[in-house]
Amino acid sequence: MQYGHFDNAAREYVIDRVDLPVSWTNYIGLKDMLGVFNHTAGGYLLYKSPEYHRITRFRPNGVPMDFPGHYIYLRDEEDGDYWSVSWQPVGKPKEHYSCRHGLSYVKYLCDYSGIDASQTLFVAMDDPVEIWDVRLRNSSDRPRTLSVFSYLEFSFHHIDMDNRNFQMSLYAAGSRYEEGVIEHDLYYEENGYQFFTGSFTPDGFDCLRDSFIGPYRTERNPLAVESGQCSGSFEKGGNHCGCLKKTLTLLPGEECRLLFLLGEGGIAEGKRLREKYTFEKADEDFRRIAAYWDEKLSRLQIETPNEGMNTEINLWNLYQSEINVMFSRFTSFIEVGGRTGLGYRDTAQDAMMVIHSNPEKCRSRLVELMRALTSEGYGLHLFEPRWFDPDAKEQSFRSPTVIPTPDKSQIITGLKDVCADDALWLVSSVVQYIRETGEMEFADQNVTYADEGAGTVYEHLKKILDFSARQIGQNGICKGLRADWNDCLNLGGGESAMVSFLHLWALRNFCELAEALGRTEDAEHYRLLAEHVRKVTREVLWDGEWFLRGITADNRKIGTHSDTEGKVHMESNTWAVLSGAATAEQGRLAMDSVDSYLYTEYGLMLNAPCYTKPDDGIGFVTRVYPGLKENGAIFSHPNPWAWCAEALLGRGDRAMKFYNALCPPLQNDRIEVRQAEPYSYCQFVVGRDHTAFGRARHPFMTGSSGWAYFAATQYLLGIRPSFTGLIVDPCIPHDWKEFRVSRKWRGSTYEIHVINPDGVEKGVRSILADGKPVSELPVLTPGSICRAEVTMGRSDNT
Ligand code: GLC
Repeated sequence: MQYGHFDNAAREYVIDRVDLPVSWTNYIGLKDMLGVFNHTAGGYLLYKSPEYHRITRFRPNGVPMDFPGHYIYLRDEEDGDYWSVSWQPVGKPKEHYSCRHGLSYVKYLCDYSGIDASQTLFVAMDDPVEIWDVRLRNSSDRPRTLSVFSYLEFSFHHIDMDNRNFQMSLYAAGSRYEEGVIEHDLYYEENGYQFFTGSFTPDGFDCLRDSFIGPYRTERNPLAVESGQCSGSFEKGGNHCGCLKKTLTLLPGEECRLLFLLGEGGIAEGKRLREKYTFEKADEDFRRIAAYWDEKLSRLQIETPNEGMNTEINLWNLYQSEINVMFSRFTSFIEVGGRTGLGYRDTAQDAMMVIHSNPEKCRSRLVELMRALTSEGYGLHLFEPRWFDPDAKEQSFRSPTVIPTPDKSQIITGLKDVCADDALWLVSSVVQYIRETGEMEFADQNVTYADEGAGTVYEHLKKILDFSARQIGQNGICKGLRADWNDCLNLGGGESAMVSFLHLWALRNFCELAEALGRTEDAEHYRLLAEHVRKVTREVLWDGEWFLRGITADNRKIGTHSDTEGKVHMESNTWAVLSGAATAEQGRLAMDSVDSYLYTEYGLMLNAPCYTKPDDGIGFVTRVYPGLKENGAIFSHPNPWAWCAEALLGRGDRAMKFYNALCPPLQNDRIEVRQAEPYSYCQFVVGRDHTAFGRARHPFMTGSSGWAYFAATQYLLGIRPSFTGLIVDPCIPHDWKEFRVSRKWRGSTYEIHVINPDGVEKGVRSILADGKPVSELPVLTPGSICRAEVTMGRSDNT
């Protein structure tokens, strides 16, 4: 069943049926002001931090679903009927509504009662101000008098103050109104103001939530809208809202437009920005947002026989991956902002995936991570970049109920909280950053450690590799510590196959960097270490048809042929291949086992069969319901690892089978099963051992997005940067005859056309760059255009 369709020409997903089973969300804002909104204008806005500076209130995980939001009500002054442009909160018959999710904007449309209305939410490019662009048209044949009411509920900024402890916050927030501008003030904060104003002179207003809504009512039937009268409320203390009312008459066919502005700053700032944000300026900003995405998307565009892949790579997958780098993990309807900080492993992976389209942000994330590395070589699993930022500013006075500022001894708590994989991702991310940008000097930039001292980026990487080399268990495999990539595999002193494979991958990447920098001694030292890791992992972790997942502290193997639960695991088998640890034969067998035990029509499950008996030597995973999350769900994040592994093995048909199973647009007509957004990868899809098999959960904020993008472009289509050139090494289905990629790299554009006359899955017979045979596409003078003709096929070296 379909609820909407992709309008790729407009770069929008159109929700035609708004009575979705769950919220379908989208993100607005590109810098400091950010918001997440669903298909009914439910959602919230924040400034810089979802934990400390929320602007509008949201009641997560509530009933009714995902309230409140940024609403426009329309009231017919003839008969008193009223409705909302975004369907909810009033909820008139759904046939009259649709929603268009675009890149950094959301548009709600309705055609109720002879009035066509739309409301578009987006954030201005240069100022922290959200714009609601509201347009009305009288499509009936008689003059209509309508009142327009806006509504939003202000937040007490800090997530805890807003949700838990009201004894101070209820009396520390105030509101007032002056010449068309509402001001909200958090009195205990410096500059704790917001304004809400419009492009018109209001006919009424309310700043107090409870006056607007009225007793025993909800956002569905607010007293002010039902009665048609605002009460002009404001007060020092209480709960505050932004309601501006405008009454207007439209002749048949007549149109009008109103802008509402919600921004940071008090009344004076509201007046200033109201002058600035004219209709023309709002239009200009809307165009600039489109241009911002044009430019990003233009850095890599593809044309392949796979429409799902084209839609993902050319639009939604890059968008989602960029949003992860911007918002990290903590702004959604599931992760509602209680943790602003960065998760070490997630951020390190996100920052590796979109370097071509956002090198500045990825670089700054890498530096933040480097600062949160201890001098022992492990990363702090969850940290606030501000703790280690030399330029971070403190507020000059302290509010009475703030959370205490942690000191270093509370932040750096030693090995017991260390996740064994965290910092290893950073090694490969930094190397990838340098391959993409060519910025070799980055390696020698000085960065502080979280505890004490400073070192170059290059030295940070060595510390990470050395830390893992020291953290070895009784069988010579890296210890699992608090967790490895899998939060629920808690091996402590037991050993994790995945971490050893990740160590090997990091070592190999680092050796390439050391070589490129001419540091041959280091390259040699770490190459020997890599050889050692390869040998030990091959010997200790091979089970005959697949690789073990690990070994418990009491020396029990996890994931063997004789296990009845948790027999085959995705992480170890994919990484055995990706890291180069597996022999070709082992790799093929291991990935065959992944296919036969873990493949489903919705993607690959994380492990099978699911655990049903608690076993604390393995970890929390054995206490998770079968088929959900880390216990045998189709956990999306590792799925692309399997595409990469199959691509390395040269099996393009299999890789694409795996790709398609998870590809969101290809499930657009199965929403009765999937439920979630078909334009977003989700954290997981419920696995086969659960009654809700196929249901997707937790959109947008997931490492699967970046990995899907990276795996599809760099492994399946096979276009990836090296230190010296752009490699073209595709692995595709045998029946693809050709595909095209346009890729910007180091300032030049590469127009790559790949043909596959022999119907192979892998292997390149020749590459012509502007007619000249090459082995990889060369670095060019910035501004150049290179036309590359690539012919796949069997050659001497395939
Ligand atoms: C969540 C976490 C991520 C972890 C994964 C598997 O997605 O954000 O860090 O790797 O779960 O447990």
